[in-house]
Amino acid sequence: MNYFIKILCFLSILIVGCGNDYNFPNVNVNESVPITMPQYNNVYGNLWGYEFINGGLGGIIIVQGLDNEFFAYDRACTYEANENCILQSESTNNPILICSECCESKFLITDGSVSQGPANQPLKKYNTYFDGEILYITN
Ligand code: FES
Repeated sequence: MNYFIKILCFLSILIVGCGNDYNFPNVNVNESVPITMPQYNNVYGNLWGYEFINGGLGGIIIVQGLDNEFFAYDRACTYEANENCILQSESTNNPILICSECCESKFLITDGSVSQGPANQPLKKYNTYFDGEILYITN
C-alpha cells in the first residue's frame, strides 16, 4: 500500500510538472511606443504589419492586429530562450519569422504560434494597451 502511494505521488508530480512548463525568462517590460508616428508606418494601420523594437529578452515584435488591436511578443526564440537566438524576417511583412541564428524554428506573427520546430512553445506574449497615440507594452 505504501509503495502504491509513493507511485501515485510520483505520477501526480510528473503530471503537474509537465502541465505548465512555459519556461521563458521573466524580464521586466515597460515600453511606450508613439505608434502613430511615421517611423512605425510599417505597423500602424497595416494589418499584420510588424516592427522590431528594443526591450524584453531579445527585443520586442509589435504586430498590428484587427480593429486597432496590437500584439507584442518577445523576439527571443522560445526554444533556447536567450538573447542570442532572436527571430528574423525573411522578407518585409512576411508573416513567418525564423530563428535563423540558431536552429531554424519558425513562428507565425498572427498569434505567435510555432509553425516549424524544434521549438514547441509559442512566442512570449506581452500585454498591450493603445490609447489612440501611444502603445504601452508591459508584462
Ligand atoms: S533557439 Fe530557436 S530554434 Fe533553436
